[in-house]
Amino acid sequence: MEYNAKRRGFIKGAGAALGVAAAAGGVVALYGMKRTWDPLPSVIAAGITEVDITELKAGEPIRVFFRKKPVFILKKSGDMPRDEKRDAIINGEAHTIVIALCTHLGCIPKWNSTMQQFKCACHGGEFNASGVNIFGPPPRPLDIPPFRVESVDERTRLVLGEEGEEYKRLAALA
Ligand code: FES
Repeated sequence: MEYNAKRRGFIKGAGAALGVAAAAGGVVALYGMKRTWDPLPSVIAAGITEVDITELKAGEPIRVFFRKKPVFILKKSGDMPRDEKRDAIINGEAHTIVIALCTHLGCIPKWNSTMQQFKCACHGGEFNASGVNIFGPPPRPLDIPPFRVESVDERTRLVLGEEGEEYKRLAALA
């Protein structure tokens, strides 16, 4: 009787120990995976976001995050008006690169592909495909974040957070 009780106790204890070991192993594995996915500390410290835009489709903006703010990157399609003061010319193509926070009160506008506009649902503000305010309360265009274009091995990357030649050209025109 006593033996059985001790044995049960041993089995319970062994089971708990195995469970703890498995959980610890899982935590270690997750930590390892997280470390692999996380950007390098130097990249975090610099507040840089790198985006491969090689496969970007014309007319279909993507949204990424840079310093915790959303950023739209739009490769303009042929039917979109050009804006010499705001278009980043990358590989000969016009791109809109803007912080996706409405300049009225900071809501995140959405892309309307039919109207080819960024529309803000909060108070009806509208921005054209270049990010220029065209309707409603927004007082100014969407902001252009610092960026640098980098081409390596036929891939094109946008480095948000660094001031490259194209960004400086646009900043001088603003
Ligand atoms: S916050 Fe966008 S229109 Fe007011």
